[in-house]
Amino acid sequence: MAWTACPGTPLRGELQIPGDKSISHRAIMLAALADGSSRITGFLESEDARATEEIFRAMGVVIEAPGEGVRVVHGVGIDGLQPPQGVLDCGNSGTAMRLLAGLLAGQAFDTTLAGDASLSQRPMRRVSAPLGRMGARIEARHGDRPPLIIHGNNALQAVDIETEVASAQVKSALLLAGLYAQGTTRVREPRPTRDYTERMLAAFGWPVEFTPGQASLSGGYRLRATEVAVPADFSSAAFFIVAATLVPGSQLRLQRVGMNPRRTGLLHVLRAMGADIVEEPAGEQGGEPVANLVVRHAPLRGIEVPVEHVADMIDEFPILFIAAACAEGRTSVRGAAELRVKESDRIAVMADGLRTLGIQVEETPDGATIHGGALGGGRIDSHGDHRVAMAFAVAGQLAAGPVHIADTANVATSFPDFIATAAAAGFGLGPAA
Ligand code: S3P
Repeated sequence: MAWTACPGTPLRGELQIPGDKSISHRAIMLAALADGSSRITGFLESEDARATEEIFRAMGVVIEAPGEGVRVVHGVGIDGLQPPQGVLDCGNSGTAMRLLAGLLAGQAFDTTLAGDASLSQRPMRRVSAPLGRMGARIEARHGDRPPLIIHGNNALQAVDIETEVASAQVKSALLLAGLYAQGTTRVREPRPTRDYTERMLAAFGWPVEFTPGQASLSGGYRLRATEVAVPADFSSAAFFIVAATLVPGSQLRLQRVGMNPRRTGLLHVLRAMGADIVEEPAGEQGGEPVANLVVRHAPLRGIEVPVEHVADMIDEFPILFIAAACAEGRTSVRGAAELRVKESDRIAVMADGLRTLGIQVEETPDGATIHGGALGGGRIDSHGDHRVAMAFAVAGQLAAGPVHIADTANVATSFPDFIATAAAAGFGLGPAA
């Protein structure tokens, strides 16, 4: 699949962004392990979230889908999962694989987790090594890559551990294994990461203590079914926040976007660059703060992205690179080496693509310097990375010639209706001829 992006009209109107991916995965997982039936609304109808859903069906969990974005999960209880028949397919989803590695390490049966070509290249030692300290036995290709063979062990031991990378996936894997471990599992992080696992465990009634950068829980409790209302995904909203900022004449309102402070680092950075984004607080949804965001066009200037914001905007660098390319002056990013092990090497792939469009970019091992300039047209390879593809669709709105984006099918992992939503807002975007 491929797209062609070219300037459309100013972006106007109101948009409803689909549900949060991170929260959708966790809602299925905890609802499956709870006692009783949980109702999830705002569930993200995407390939990644559905991969997690199918994996729990394969382990005997009955999940009904009575409507778009609605799931009724008939929980089997903390020890009620059944051994699956075959390999569990995580598709493109690092979140599914890493969280499940922890959750499955404490089961009484063995499982194998596999993924697509991109996921099969992503590092897994970051979860298998600390889980190993809890007594988990996980085999990986070359010790680090999927597929993962997880030997069930119902005698996990709690750990007190400081993770090497700031990763919510690693923290969550340990906490989910901790549900099955004897004693208190405590995780400390080099920088605070998104706390959805902690918040959702609390919502399902499991005692958990957490402050930014630290979480602890003990094994031996049970999860109680509940209702989960998933807010709109800030990372999906980010493409529209940047597009409305960049396209002259735009004024866009994004409805009820999830505003967890561990996700909204991009807002701080865009405002420091000159963006005009007004937050209208809209209460809470599913235990998360939500707000309507009103974004008006504003010219941007380059900045040095403060390192303390990096973890809070880890999924937003592809679109930040586009904002930086359209800003006046230089923008530099450092402390973001994690970008090299996302769905693609996002530093290299974004730098390559921007150079194709005529922008000067210098790469470093943990970031890049982007020199704002005039975007031209060109042919971009998204390397199967959903966020790279959507970022270059935004670039196309500002480019002097058409931007052709190859390998866009994986946009369905996080935002299946992106083309329709973007076109309705005013983007010039469609399938390539
Ligand atoms: C996620 C955590 C982040 C993020 C990913 C989703 C999660 O990964 O990039 O898209 O749901 O926990 P890391 O925790 O590895 O940084």
